[in-house]
Amino acid sequence: STEREYIITDKKGEKQNVGYIQLNRRKALNALCDGLMKEVATALDDFEADKDVGCIVLTGIDRAFAAGADIMEMKDRQFSEVVASDFLTSWNRLADCKKPVIAAVNGYALGGGCEVAMMCDIIYAGENAKFGQPEIIIGTIPGAGGTQRLCKAIGKSKAMEMVLTGNMINAEDAEKAGLVSKVFPVDQVVNEAIKTAEQIAGYSKITTALCKEAVNKGFEMPLKEGLHFEKRLFHATFATSDRKEGMTAFAEKRKPNFTDS
Ligand code: CAA
Repeated sequence: STEREYIITDKKGEKQNVGYIQLNRRKALNALCDGLMKEVATALDDFEADKDVGCIVLTGIDRAFAAGADIMEMKDRQFSEVVASDFLTSWNRLADCKKPVIAAVNGYALGGGCEVAMMCDIIYAGENAKFGQPEIIIGTIPGAGGTQRLCKAIGKSKAMEMVLTGNMINAEDAEKAGLVSKVFPVDQVVNEAIKTAEQIAGYSKITTALCKEAVNKGFEMPLKEGLHFEKRLFHATFATSDRKEGMTAFAEKRKPNFTDS
């Protein structure tokens, strides 16, 4: 594994086809400073370029996935500075990742931490996970998707309650609300995320990328446009060898041998 200043990266899984990113800024509960998010972006660049990697797992430490954007770094910033640097827009690198990303969340996922988890494609939570958008408490509002993705994930009333009160919800409530797909004991959540990532990485990477794109584009489109876009991507899979191989393997009652082409 490679240890950088704020994160640890590795490749996991029996076939080493899972990219692993652990946020590791313990003393600040993984507050998402500029340096940390730059390292995440670099790790994503590397895993995206790595032909063997089919899925990525993003996790934190037991006490915190991430306690938000770095308040110490933000507190003295001026309006003109955050506008000029388009502060937080670079975080979109994660949401734009072409390979699937699974967030394995233990402990706090607050503010930017909750938003980073929501930029991932699947969220698994440990039983001790706590999700919240506490920005209102410190005089600001969510700035990386908390007013948008949270609303789409759990509906307006629950999202409004969270962003207007700053109150946290626990893992069980997050699962009930649909924010997370599964809850596991704290010491199992990362392994379970890696297992799911291995499963995903075992399919055709080209098909997987199209599938992720269809879901994400649909989030931003009216249903009719989304259905049209889906149909065209579905048709596009017929231009791949992997689609032919997958269906042929089914007919021949054998496992498919995908070549990512
Ligand atoms: N930024 C910078 N430092 C942070 C931090 C943050 N978001 N969250 C925690 N830390 C630091 C603390 O300052 C503290 O550092 P010191 O030991 O040097 O004092 C250390 O991490 C441990 O934190 P606490 O002592 O506060 O630990 P706790 O167990 O008492 O409380 C907590 C844990 C409830 C998560 C609390 O730390 C907290 O409320 N953190 C802030 C959460 C927050 O407001 N997040 C939103 C940030 S704004 C944002 O994210 C904007 C956006 O939309 C992108």
